[in-house]
Amino acid sequence: MTVDWAHVFAGRVGGMTASEIRELLKLIDRPEIISFAGGIPDPDFFPTAAIARAYEKIFQSNTGAGGALQYSISEGFTPLREWICAYMGRLGVEVGLDGVLVTSGSQQALEFVGKLLIGPGDKVVVTRPTYLGALQAFSPYEPTYVSVPMDEEGPELAALEAALAEKPKFFYLVPDFQNPNGTTVSLARREAILDLCVKAGVPIVEDTAYSELRYEGETIPCIAALDAARNGGHLSHVIYCGTFSKTMVPAFRIGWVNAAPEVINRLVLMKQAGDLHCSTINQIVLHDIVSSIFETHVKHLRAQYKERRDAMLAALAEFAPPGVTWTKPEGGMFVWLELPEGVNGTALLERAIKEANVAFVPGSAFHADRSGQNTLRLSFSVTKPERIREGVRRLCNLLKTG
Ligand SMILES: Cc1ncc(COP(=O)(O)O)c(C=O)c1O
Repeated sequence: MTVDWAHVFAGRVGGMTASEIRELLKLIDRPEIISFAGGIPDPDFFPTAAIARAYEKIFQSNTGAGGALQYSISEGFTPLREWICAYMGRLGVEVGLDGVLVTSGSQQALEFVGKLLIGPGDKVVVTRPTYLGALQAFSPYEPTYVSVPMDEEGPELAALEAALAEKPKFFYLVPDFQNPNGTTVSLARREAILDLCVKAGVPIVEDTAYSELRYEGETIPCIAALDAARNGGHLSHVIYCGTFSKTMVPAFRIGWVNAAPEVINRLVLMKQAGDLHCSTINQIVLHDIVSSIFETHVKHLRAQYKERRDAMLAALAEFAPPGVTWTKPEGGMFVWLELPEGVNGTALLERAIKEANVAFVPGSAFHADRSGQNTLRLSFSVTKPERIREGVRRLCNLLKTG
């Protein structure tokens, strides 16, 4: 008898389907396409020489590479966790080793947070729009999403207060240069969000994937630092998710999570059950390179990506037709476009690929409630300034021709 897989799959995976957008984006792997779709770092900026040296050091050491190729503890390589504690200290958060877990990218931290906190039907508050990968991480645990709209300072407070009254398990947000809309939450808004969440007894899951990539303006303290300042330097309401994917390289798959030790203890059990630990050798190499080049490398990245952001904003100002508005991110990798009501982003993507050789991600993908049909996410991170200008020109021409 053959297996009826659809019948055998657990009920909770029923909603996990490949999106039509993903199918369209499969068509963009052609050299003539100018793609603003992928929110990925430019490999031309990877610190490959430093990485090669760090691997060589391991294989040429007198003690041999055995330890680096062996299993290791689930919490993460201790010197790397010490580096993370010192880094968090500079941000204003005191964490000890019992407050850090190294994860397979911050994506795994989000997955574990979902597993730890969400039961079927539990409410989870997200912004509208929000990071698609967070929805993918949380959805298998069957939450009901409550979406809070955003203005230029971040999530709207009245809507957040109403959402918190529904007794959600947590509020997930990306406060700096949000993926997808580039918005940075103001300091006043961060304090107010924390006030509301403390009052409601609801944890905040703070995703800081792009926080180091600031191109202008003052650094704003992370919500974790505001939380710690109210709590003797330690985390109370915030689960902080960090990553080395955007500052170093994504292929190591190394991120981390900071939280109160009782939360970390549970997350460590999930790490053990999930994949035991992150690659030992990759953690050693990453620790070597962050210890030597983190600051200089991030400074270099800021200068490079700033040029691209500037090119995209200048091209939009030059070519965008009336009725189109866009965000002006102070960092990160994304500009968010709002088109006139009634224009459909997914239909536009199909035309953009076929008629203009340009790609982007339609904004509806980033809405838990599938709204935002007339929005688009453009990423400037992997395209050189001249190509950005040409791509924006082509996209805007398409918009002008309806
Ligand atoms: C907002 C946000 N959070 C988390 C991630 C996950 O990144 P990683 O797992 O590589 O740390 C991404 C990746 O693009 C992201 O945009």
